[in-house]
Amino acid sequence: MGGLGAASVVVGFVGFSATTGGLPVGGSAGGGAAWREPAVRRSIRGILDTELEAVETTADIGGVRCSVLGYGGTLPGPTLRVRAGDRIRVALRNGLAAATNLHTHGLQVSPSGNGDNPFVSIAAGETFDYEFDLPADHPPGIYWYHPHLHGSVAEQVFSGLYGAIIVDDPEPIEVFRERVMIISDITIDGDGRVAAAGPMDRMSGREGELVLLNGMLDPLIEARPGSRERWRIVNACTSRHLRLRLDGHLLELIGIDSGRLPLPSAVESIDLAPGNRADVLVTLVATGGELVAQSFDRGAAGMMGGSRPSPRSSRLATIEVAGARVAEAAPPPALAPAADLRTAEVVRRRTIEFGMVGMMGGFVFDGRAFDGERIDIHAEAGTVEEWTLRNDSPMDHPFHLHVWPMQIVERDGAPTPLVEQREVVAVPARRDVVVRIAFTGHTGTSVYHCHILDHEDAGMMGVVDVR
Ligand code: C2O
Ligand code: CU
Ligand code: CU
Repeated sequence: MGGLGAASVVVGFVGFSATTGGLPVGGSAGGGAAWREPAVRRSIRGILDTELEAVETTADIGGVRCSVLGYGGTLPGPTLRVRAGDRIRVALRNGLAAATNLHTHGLQVSPSGNGDNPFVSIAAGETFDYEFDLPADHPPGIYWYHPHLHGSVAEQVFSGLYGAIIVDDPEPIEVFRERVMIISDITIDGDGRVAAAGPMDRMSGREGELVLLNGMLDPLIEARPGSRERWRIVNACTSRHLRLRLDGHLLELIGIDSGRLPLPSAVESIDLAPGNRADVLVTLVATGGELVAQSFDRGAAGMMGGSRPSPRSSRLATIEVAGARVAEAAPPPALAPAADLRTAEVVRRRTIEFGMVGMMGGFVFDGRAFDGERIDIHAEAGTVEEWTLRNDSPMDHPFHLHVWPMQIVERDGAPTPLVEQREVVAVPARRDVVVRIAFTGHTGTSVYHCHILDHEDAGMMGVVDVR
């Protein structure tokens, strides 16, 4: 474990959070944990039939035993691996002391009944049987699941409840190996428990002192020279915006959220707002390196102050490249890009304004806090709408809509040159972003919200009904 483990054994939990909070780039405590990925549960003959239990559990984080929450007792929970057209059945057992539920973030599935229904509440000790079908034309890629019970989402996700969902490609992309990378953050207090958020944390959106990759602090990634890997990355942080870099190696983006790029695109860094995912081809060309989340300023909550988040960079993993050189992989097949809504007929235009009310942390859309009994937007099934997401506030808000993906068509009045389909759209402070949405595939009632989960819990969520 190097210096980190030894120090925590001697001085205990207090020393742990003091010495490892936001591991500085280039620190000496890295590369400790052996690489680990969540267990995989695959669909068989078109059906994924599984059980997930949300429980209190212990996790070893950087050599320290911590009390956290986890699906199936692991951090992160198991990866669910399915194909377009599959039926998904998940019996969610609530082994927590409080109510919870389950949301399959990004999946284009029915929001009704025992589908991906954010209005379900599962009491402590109860089980709920989710069951829904992935459409036959569902986009492949990386998705994720997490609790969605209004009022406790931030706390439950921050404490460890998240897992990945992979929808396989119809035609596999040739790579040397694939990795699932769930990035989350957490703060552990002096007793080895997840720290509670104070009012200022809730205003800005809580950010953990520790940034974890698959539940580990700075794990070691061992790779072969010249090899091409596919990394499927989820930003499962409650509020933290991730600007990822892997200097020295070749990063090619093939998708963000459910939106595929027609061709892999070389990038220097990858920006993931909370809830965003990235599908990346990584070619290992240097002998080592670090996967880093750079510091990122997402603004502060205005007059009440709130801390300036993400002041430091964090090293997420240490890369070691060794062994026999791997022959160059075949170029990836052409990917099916998302349908382009820029030329679609828009039947309705709306503006959604982000706002704060009261002195302490009321977050709203259009001046109203979330009310599950009120429908904020009625949309007609089969039509395309255009929404202007207006953020006049001093901080960034990542805007998320369930079930129906959004296409960004304009940022600050400038049309986007490419098709950018997203489930979470970062709306920077004092900016407008315009999106188009095709209300096709499913009808029913669902939600849109800020994916800074503290803001969602504080009321920045609305109800959309599609008939
Ligand atoms: Cu990832 Cu409604 O959330
Ligand atoms: Cu979602
Ligand atoms: Cu927000």
